[in-house]
Amino acid sequence: MYQATTSTIPKLGPESYCDSQYHDQDVTRLRSSAWHLIGTTGQLASTGDYIACHVLGVPIVVRRFDEQLVAFRNVCAHRHCQLIDEGMGNTAELKCRYHGWQYGSDGQTRRIPGAKNFPNFDRQRHRLEGFDVDTVGQLVFVRFAQCDQTLSEWLGEFEKPLQVATDAKDWKLNLFNRLTYEANWKIPVEASLESYHLDEVHAKTFGSDPGEEATLHQFNAKGTTFQTESRGKSLVERLEEASIRWLTGSFDPRYQHIHLFPNLMASLTETITLVYQIEPLSAQRCQMTVIGLGRSPSRPGRLKHLWAWGMRRMSARIAMKIFMEDATIFPLVQNGKRGAVDHGIFGRCEERLDAFHKYWAAPNGQ
Ligand code: FES
Ligand SMILES: [Fe+2]
Repeated sequence: MYQATTSTIPKLGPESYCDSQYHDQDVTRLRSSAWHLIGTTGQLASTGDYIACHVLGVPIVVRRFDEQLVAFRNVCAHRHCQLIDEGMGNTAELKCRYHGWQYGSDGQTRRIPGAKNFPNFDRQRHRLEGFDVDTVGQLVFVRFAQCDQTLSEWLGEFEKPLQVATDAKDWKLNLFNRLTYEANWKIPVEASLESYHLDEVHAKTFGSDPGEEATLHQFNAKGTTFQTESRGKSLVERLEEASIRWLTGSFDPRYQHIHLFPNLMASLTETITLVYQIEPLSAQRCQMTVIGLGRSPSRPGRLKHLWAWGMRRMSARIAMKIFMEDATIFPLVQNGKRGAVDHGIFGRCEERLDAFHKYWAAPNGQ
C-alpha cells in the first residue's frame, strides 16, 4: 500500500533541472553528501589493475597496490599530464608518460628522471592528491574530502542488504557500463522511483506495475525502498524460479528497490543485483554507472555453472534493454522541463519522488 493519501506538488521546480546555478549547487552537495561508485573488487583484483574515470568533474584513478586499493586525482604532480587513460587496465607502474615520474601507493614520487633538476624537492608537497576508498560486498566507492561520513555511515541500514546482494561468493559481474543521458541527473533518479511508467515504457521487458495492493513503500532518513512479491506466471518467470531453486536450493520471490539519498539505487532480486549511481555531467547531462551481478550457483556441478552463466548473460541483456527503453524518455523529459512553467504533480504512487524532493530541497538534505 502507498502511505500518501493525497497527490503532492513537487518541491523542485523545472529550473533545478535546467540552470547551471542549480547544477553547481548539486555538484557541491553531491561531493559532500555521497560516496561514489567506481567499479568492483573483481575488476581491481591484481596489483596494477586500475579504473580511471571522472566523478563530478574530477578525474580519478583507483588502482590496486598489492593488498591496497588507492585512489588519486588522475593528474601528474609535475606539469599536470593525465596519468592514466580513462577506462580499465593494468600498469606495472603508476608512471606519467610525459617525463616519467613514478608514484607509490602514498601518492609520493618513487622515481624522478634527472632528479638533480629539482634540488631540495619536497615530496610531501609535490604528490598526487589522494581520495578515500572503501568497499561494501564487491562494490568499490571513493569519497571526496568534503564528505565526512564513512561508507558504512552513508549506507546506514542499506549496508547489509547491499553487502549480501553483492557478495563475491554468490554474485558474479555480468554488467558494467557508464551510460550518458541527455538529461539532468534527477530525471533518471526519479524514473527509478516509480513503477507508474512500466506499462507505457517497459511493457515488454519489465512487465506491468504491480499496483498498490502488491506494493510496499518504506521511508527513512537515508532513503526509500519499494518492495513487491508480485510475480507474473509467464514461462520465463517460472523457468527463472525453477533455475534459481536448482542453482541455490531456494527462491525468494521478492523484488526490492533501494534509493539511498541522494543518487545511489539498487534493484535486488534472486537473479540479478543492479547497483547504479547517477551523477551530473552538466545541468542537462548526466552519467549513470551501472554494475550488474548475476547469481553464482551455491551447489556444485558443471552444468549448474554453465546454466548460471547463461542466466547471467540473459539477465544482463534484459537489464540493458530496460535502461535503453528509459534512455528514450529522459531527453523528452529534459526538453519538457525547459518549457515547463509550473512544478507539475506527483501522484500517490510517486510518493518516493516526493521523499527525494523533500530531502534534496532541504538546505542540509535532512
Ligand atoms: S607532467 Fe608528468 S612527469 Fe612531467
Ligand atoms: Fe524505467
